[in-house]
Amino acid sequence: MSKIIAVTSGKGGTGKSTICAGLGYTLAKQGHRTLIIELDFGLRCLDIMFGMENSIQCDLGDVLSGKKKVLEAVSHVPMASNLNLLSAPKTLTSVTAEQIVDICRSIKKYFEYIIIDTGAGINSHVFDIVEQANLILVVSTPDQVCIRDASLMSDEFYNRGNKSQRLIINKVSKKVIGDSLVANLDEIIDKVGVQLIGVIPDDFKMTVATGKGNPIPTDSEALRAFDAIAKRLDGDFVPLTFNN
Ligand SMILES: Nc1ncnc2c1ncn2[C@@H]1O[C@H](COP(=O)(O)OP(=O)(O)OP(=O)(O)O)[C@@H](O)[C@H]1O
Ligand SMILES: [Mg+2]
Repeated sequence: MSKIIAVTSGKGGTGKSTICAGLGYTLAKQGHRTLIIELDFGLRCLDIMFGMENSIQCDLGDVLSGKKKVLEAVSHVPMASNLNLLSAPKTLTSVTAEQIVDICRSIKKYFEYIIIDTGAGINSHVFDIVEQANLILVVSTPDQVCIRDASLMSDEFYNRGNKSQRLIINKVSKKVIGDSLVANLDEIIDKVGVQLIGVIPDDFKMTVATGKGNPIPTDSEALRAFDAIAKRLDGDFVPLTFNN
């Protein structure tokens, strides 16, 4: 049975899609059958990040309209043999939380990890979908607005009964966060109120790679952070290191 992981944030642009791509890639490279479901209706981007912009034949829209079965609409991501993508439709399509939950249920047995990219903007559907996940990864950057929004978001999930949450702090650089890195990360964790699972450095090499649809280079600091988070998800103890 797969573990359903929802990647979400209060504020837009925190790096949810990048994290889905990076985490999906490392989980797959570590041997786990992984599917990413993209819910960014009308604004999909993972096809570009995986270099598949011109090769996606079907997407979630075909499933919702009944034209395709879920597995028929799933595309294999060429850069990692265990990685698969169910792209968001290019147009705005109406969807209910029940439909997404049913889709996940119907394919649970085929994947060890199903990662849901909740997309930009928060509406009640997103809350309904995310609260069904086995684990919610709340993404924040060190930005104060982002931290406050992540905290509000997380409180809402707690209120709805989903206590399985972990925090990812993304786009961290010594330049932004100052010299007392640990104290500052602690402050972010306290403000959001969610246990930390990983810190991802601000990494230009990764932005260039995902922009071109190339695999994240092996010397990327962000890739190392994704690798550690993927292992922690799998139950391994990996100490926190930060080299940016
Ligand atoms: N760790 C990082 N280092 C450098 N750039 C990053 C990092 N994470 C994300 N980015 C960049 O930040 C921008 C926004 O990232 P992304 O699209 O993943 O955010 P998002 O949360 O999915 O946005 P949206 O809310 O619009 O869906 C992109 O240009 C991406 O390359
Ligand atoms: Mg996104």
